[in-house]
Amino acid sequence: MNKDLKEILVTEEEIKEICKRLGKQISEDYKGKKLLLVSVLRGAVVFLADLMREITCDCQIDFLAVSSYDGAKTTGCVKFKKDLDINPQGYDILIVEDILDSGITLTYLKEVLKDRKANSIKICTFLDKPTNHKTDITADYIGKVVPDEFVVGYGLDYNEKYRNLPFVAVLSPEVYA
Ligand code: IMP
Ligand code: MG
Repeated sequence: MNKDLKEILVTEEEIKEICKRLGKQISEDYKGKKLLLVSVLRGAVVFLADLMREITCDCQIDFLAVSSYDGAKTTGCVKFKKDLDINPQGYDILIVEDILDSGITLTYLKEVLKDRKANSIKICTFLDKPTNHKTDITADYIGKVVPDEFVVGYGLDYNEKYRNLPFVAVLSPEVYA
């Protein structure tokens, strides 16, 4: 294993099971609805690509881009970088995120989307770090609950690195110390 990584937290096999489980649930819940999967660039694209292929009801995809991180630390201030291309009016929006950490990003995004006349807005996060939430946001669909450690892989980065790892691993603290 790469010496920058402490341990593997979510294996490729477990990732497949998570996507299957969530995809099945979402397909049941959104049958007959106008589902718009809104993925948050860039970390959530890998998860979106796997999740959408497990969804059997009609759906569309679009992307938003925000950033709040500087290395392994959140700046606490979310910058809006790219808006949706599709007008979400009348759609059932499902925000697809890589990880729910402090909750600041998702709270901000829900606020941004709330006046767009969508039919509903829900959240699907691949990972959740509940011990670190600083807002009262909760996800409607959760892939896996993880401890409060900095993780990389499967789309998640540290300074834009490690996104291409096919699993999720804990980054050795020495890397960002
Ligand atoms: P929040 O606003 O603190 O909930 O953070 C959300 C965003 O921060 C996520 O979408 C990630 O891009 C990034 N993030 C939070 N925790 C981690 C982590 O452990 N590894 C990599 N990125 C993270
Ligand atoms: Mg993200």
